[in-house]
Amino acid sequence: MIKCIDEIEIKDKRVLIRVDFNVPLSNATDPSNKDEPRKVTDGTRIREALPTIQYAIQNGARVILMSHLGRPEGVDSAFSLAPAADHLSELLGTDVLLTDDCVGDGIEMIVRHLKSTQVILLENLRFHEGEEKNDPAFARQLASLAEVYINDAFGSSHREHASIYGVPQIMPIKGCGFLIKKELQFLNRLLNAPEHPYVAVLGGSKVSDKIKTIENLFFEVDVLCVGGAMAHAFRLAGDPKHVLPPNAKQPKSQDIAYASQLLEKARRHEVKLILPIDDPEGVPPGFDIGPQTIELFTKEIRRAKTVFWNGPVGMFEDERYAKGSLAVAQAMAEVKGLKVVGGGDTVSALNLAGVADQMTHVSTGGGATLEFLEGNGLPGITILDTIGKKSDARISLVPE
Ligand code: 3PG
Repeated sequence: MIKCIDEIEIKDKRVLIRVDFNVPLSNATDPSNKDEPRKVTDGTRIREALPTIQYAIQNGARVILMSHLGRPEGVDSAFSLAPAADHLSELLGTDVLLTDDCVGDGIEMIVRHLKSTQVILLENLRFHEGEEKNDPAFARQLASLAEVYINDAFGSSHREHASIYGVPQIMPIKGCGFLIKKELQFLNRLLNAPEHPYVAVLGGSKVSDKIKTIENLFFEVDVLCVGGAMAHAFRLAGDPKHVLPPNAKQPKSQDIAYASQLLEKARRHEVKLILPIDDPEGVPPGFDIGPQTIELFTKEIRRAKTVFWNGPVGMFEDERYAKGSLAVAQAMAEVKGLKVVGGGDTVSALNLAGVADQMTHVSTGGGATLEFLEGNGLPGITILDTIGKKSDARISLVPE
């Protein structure tokens, strides 16, 4: 059984909360601007963690937040969590102290003197290689900072890293936050007897990233629409003589092999798999889906009772190639049923279409959401089970 933070005694306790503040920042890719203060450009993940943080503050906990940001190699100020700390401070209307490290004597001292209702954020966990390696000594250092462990980093819960897996392995008093609880409530509905017709729309470039998710989706979906560069692998798998349009990126042979297996499975499961059949005029192949494909995709989406979308169907960041993704977003907005969207880019496409608030659930996870839909739970969530055996998070957290 996994407990939620509101089922755990936290008053006057030091509560270590793993959040996912891996958020987009300004100047992230422009090294010439390295000295300019960076700002959070999309604070969704920070906002979504607020209910848990505010609950902890209001219930007298001493709050220690921890997160990773990006994929730094060692200590690198470009990956400091300072912009996230500023953003959180503004949202909470209270000071959030960012420590200069996440473990060590100095941090232990700060934590020891922390008062009830105070909030600190530990500096980027990935400045230590022990985080991604799930090093037991590093996990022990983190665990020694608090009495209660809460995971609310849904977007990182597919990683078996120290702060996600090693720490809760050691700490007996643990649970999830409200964000994870909410994510599970909606995502489980996609796995457990979803209403039909159920349509999934997947974009992206590599089949290999999504193979297990697609295999598991086949047990439930009626229609799978595949867009983006990934569709090339399916077309070649279905017809080895298929000639890719000039300029199209040749998929890796492994991806074609995977696509071939999936086509076979789709036939067996009687899933209607729809691939793009045209490109918009004057647009390089694979950059967006054409008008006939939009028609095919959106017709299926509109009559669905359940829709899941991950991965834009074109390079929507450039408005010349955004028509397909905007059309998918609009069609989803019209659906009367469960509509769930996952993945950072997909959420940006929704925002561009201005229909994010018309979805049933917009997941904060990208890779985590896809991995969750593989159906085997996520390591960072199953480890929270206090009974100690592999939990079925689906059952323990979903009120039927
Ligand atoms: C994400 O953005 O998907 C999560 O924060 C995990 O980040 P990672 O892919 O670098 O582990």
